[in-house]
Amino acid sequence: MQISVIPEPKRIIEDGGGAAKAAVIERKIDQKLQEEEYRLRLNKDGISIAGGSERACLYAEATIEQLKVQCPERLPCLTIEDRPSHPWRAFHIDCARHFFPSDELKKMIKMCAHFKMNRFHWHFMDDQGWRIECSRYPLLHQIGAVRKGDHFGCYHSEEIEDRYYTRDEVKEIVSYCESLGIEVVPEVDMPGHATAILAAYPELGCHGKKMEVATRQGIFRDILCCGKEEVFTFIENVLDDLMDLFPSKYFHIGGDEAPKERWKKCPLCQKRMEQEGLANMQQLQGYMENRIAAYLKERGRMAVVWNEAANGGNLDPDTIVQLWIEDKEHMVEYHLAKGGKAILSPVKNCYCDYPYGVTSLETVYQLDDSPGELAEVKDRILGTECLAWTEYIRDAGKLETMCWPRYAASAEVGWCGKERPGYLSFEKRLKALLPLFEAYGIQITEESGWVLPEEEAKRQKEEFQKNFSEESREELKKVQEEI
Ligand code: ACM
Ligand code: ZN
Repeated sequence: MQISVIPEPKRIIEDGGGAAKAAVIERKIDQKLQEEEYRLRLNKDGISIAGGSERACLYAEATIEQLKVQCPERLPCLTIEDRPSHPWRAFHIDCARHFFPSDELKKMIKMCAHFKMNRFHWHFMDDQGWRIECSRYPLLHQIGAVRKGDHFGCYHSEEIEDRYYTRDEVKEIVSYCESLGIEVVPEVDMPGHATAILAAYPELGCHGKKMEVATRQGIFRDILCCGKEEVFTFIENVLDDLMDLFPSKYFHIGGDEAPKERWKKCPLCQKRMEQEGLANMQQLQGYMENRIAAYLKERGRMAVVWNEAANGGNLDPDTIVQLWIEDKEHMVEYHLAKGGKAILSPVKNCYCDYPYGVTSLETVYQLDDSPGELAEVKDRILGTECLAWTEYIRDAGKLETMCWPRYAASAEVGWCGKERPGYLSFEKRLKALLPLFEAYGIQITEESGWVLPEEEAKRQKEEFQKNFSEESREELKKVQEEI
């Protein structure tokens, strides 16, 4: 019989026509298998699972769950030999712009684990809020979490948002992820997207003036000062605080959208540049990212940054670059040529906060995971990530329908890489697996919305663009020139 599994396994060997016994009779770690590789045998005596690790055994169990959805009465006899093409198959949720309670995060995490994703990039701080309790700098959650209004795009509300995750809640999320084979990659963005930090500790900016947590979207000119030693002390202490919560090997330290206007006028930033023999502001940013990456490295952690952090050309080759701006491959090529590694999450294919009329399910599926420009270094492309920024996502239902089923398509891109069987095959398997979403209590965009007819796609695109006024577009252009 035709079976449907997402992500498509590397090898399915059908074993006659008989029915398999549904009980697991053997579950073992096999050191001969790769860490994420598993072998699953279903026959008339029962089910046996072998995995290269505990996580790989979980993948085998997810596969069994999918088989059971399709053949609840009569499991087919077969063997599946499977392993991922890419080690980085991440999903991202922005909890800074809008807060999602722990129970909702857990639902999302469980569904992602089901599709064999292995990293949760937790974006919990930004200009519009810092949302994790910080023991060393409590004003981060006492002031930095408090946003007096919500004015993203066309939406306006004066309601105060002041929620954050307590340390106990964070620990619970981390251990929940661990139990599902998922590593949490926390992100502290620096030097930009720092308005909530500066609202709590204004002295960390170049001019030290008081400011409020941002209530609007955009790119903000006030960033962390790179000249003041106390900024580095602050970041290091905050990272220590987070390292107590997150055992993860990888820590994201941001680096995107940091306009350099303040640094250009700041005597301390200028002095730092001179002392360190740096040629430009982009190199000054590289200096900051490198110093923090070194701090993490000394503690056994690895830094991940957004692609802008590589613009100065002086980024430590051990730092992983996450490419999100699609035409910037050339900016990371130099980093890759030096032996660096990258994650691909271009806006066009991976940003699931855009409506389906802009980023269809098929577009997510069609991500080129070794684009021409980077083909020569494809072994240094770690994988991919799907993202949900939440400026326009205010509740759990919207979060789920924006992410699902697009996150499942991204999961298959990461797992299958170049060996993806194609969008039509994916869509067919997805339809067979729809009951799973119901079983997990996940709201999913219905089939008619996955790939929209041109007219409807255009309508959605125009509707989305209303979130950006003419002035805000002009302002954005100006600020982008400073990055
Ligand atoms: C980003 O979307 N600013 C990484
Ligand atoms: Zn400064």
